[in-house]
Amino acid sequence: MISFKPLSSAAHGCLVTVVLLGEGRERDAALPAALVQNLNALSLKSGKVESLRAVMEGQVCTLLFGMLPEEVTYDALEELTAEVVKHLRTLKAAQVDVLLADDALLQMSGALYKQLLLADDGFDRYQTTGLAPITSEKKDDDKKEPFAPGFTLYLPESIPQAEEERKLREAADMAMGIRAARRLVNEPANVMTPERLAQEASQLAQQHGFDIEVYDEQQIQEMGLKAFWSVAKGSDTPPRFMVMRYMNNPDTDKLLALVGKGLTYDSGGYALKPAAGMETMFCDMGGAAAVIGAISVLAASKAKVNVVAVVAACENMISGHAYHNGDIIGSLAGKHIEVVNTDAEGRITLADALTYAATVLNADQIIDIATLTGAVGVALGNEITGVVADDEDIWQALQQASQASGDKVWRMPHFEHLEKHNKSERADIKNSGGRPAGTATAALFCRAFAGGKPWGHLDIAGTAYQSKASAKAPLGATGVGVELLTRAARTLFGQ
Ligand code: BES
Ligand code: MN
Ligand code: ZN
Repeated sequence: MISFKPLSSAAHGCLVTVVLLGEGRERDAALPAALVQNLNALSLKSGKVESLRAVMEGQVCTLLFGMLPEEVTYDALEELTAEVVKHLRTLKAAQVDVLLADDALLQMSGALYKQLLLADDGFDRYQTTGLAPITSEKKDDDKKEPFAPGFTLYLPESIPQAEEERKLREAADMAMGIRAARRLVNEPANVMTPERLAQEASQLAQQHGFDIEVYDEQQIQEMGLKAFWSVAKGSDTPPRFMVMRYMNNPDTDKLLALVGKGLTYDSGGYALKPAAGMETMFCDMGGAAAVIGAISVLAASKAKVNVVAVVAACENMISGHAYHNGDIIGSLAGKHIEVVNTDAEGRITLADALTYAATVLNADQIIDIATLTGAVGVALGNEITGVVADDEDIWQALQQASQASGDKVWRMPHFEHLEKHNKSERADIKNSGGRPAGTATAALFCRAFAGGKPWGHLDIAGTAYQSKASAKAPLGATGVGVELLTRAARTLFGQ
């Protein structure tokens, strides 16, 4: 619930008041005198977390922190919000009043609201407290309630309320999509199987209003998805192929495809990963979660876009029916792939999903997103997503989305000469170009199956999952990609 009040009516008697303020006369003029006095007494100076103070007066708690306009960055806001939410949870705040008296802060009101709704989103549904009865495994319907207090924004009279309201609703939709993606990724592989992932996507489709078709292992083979099936067939847990559609811009025929890597587990196959590298490989469907989250947000917010999301979901396992290192496999595109490394499986599954998007769905632009290479984490660390794009419009849209969302991206090269690393002596292409420029060569493998369509590629292997809680986000899935894709899609449709 969001409501608005004029700034001049802000009394020093709200249950919880978060004051985000720049300093100076303008601020003081806009606020009730009692509050200014209180602020000055605390001499709040900067946006550092140490400047956060809780003032208890009977039932009333005022949480105050100051932020200088030049300090209002995404990173600072994320850290502060995480801290504020911790306090609000302890106080069991049902109502949050936020006073924004500065232009720089007003521009961030959407981001602030989104962060308020995301900050406490840890994965704790399997942490049973106390002596639990044997049947204590939590069911889906007793999920922890998301932190969603009433939210009142106090605005200077000069600010149009309708515009603010739109911004905050958009932020709430975004938080919903990010939370959904995080949950899909955080669930371990024994729970989030391809079948379950398809069920979850179908539920979101029904809830937010987009179409979905799900194909089973039989249909996958009949459809000629030979590359995808080669990876999937090693597991006793059956694969699923999902095509989701949200068509809401009748003014144009243009179709944008979002393709997400959906490995619900990646053991490496016969190029078996060591235990340490395998431990979090349930996160290898982070790309799938991102496209499912993004299409949910686009539908929930009724964006004027035509988008399809494609996910080829399976496990990469070892067994008597698994593919081998050295196999030569077919693909929907008709190209033969030499499997030099069964652990470079993501690009093989993406190959068919990309061809499907380019040819069967005839998409005009394609963006894929995948936890694809360890190399991207080596190059960029765990807070920057690697992008490869051969289309300037797509790159621009992603870069713009990055600036608006705070999800950092960096463009990696796609020089033609890198293509030779993927050249096979035995087939049309091989699935690994080795260690040098590993992120770029993996991306170029994907491009080879995008049917020559304008294409962009996000490698989120470094950013999709964090094994330690940070100041900004809890341990686990980050939901990276949901906002980047949602915003990029809107931009590409001129919104
Ligand atoms: N799923 C992994 C990539 C990954 C690594 C995701 C770390 C998340 C965190 C991918 O399938 C993989 O195994 N890539 C190999 C490619 C190599 C065999 C060419 C890699 O990066 O080592
Ligand atoms: Mn792998
Ligand atoms: Zn993988």
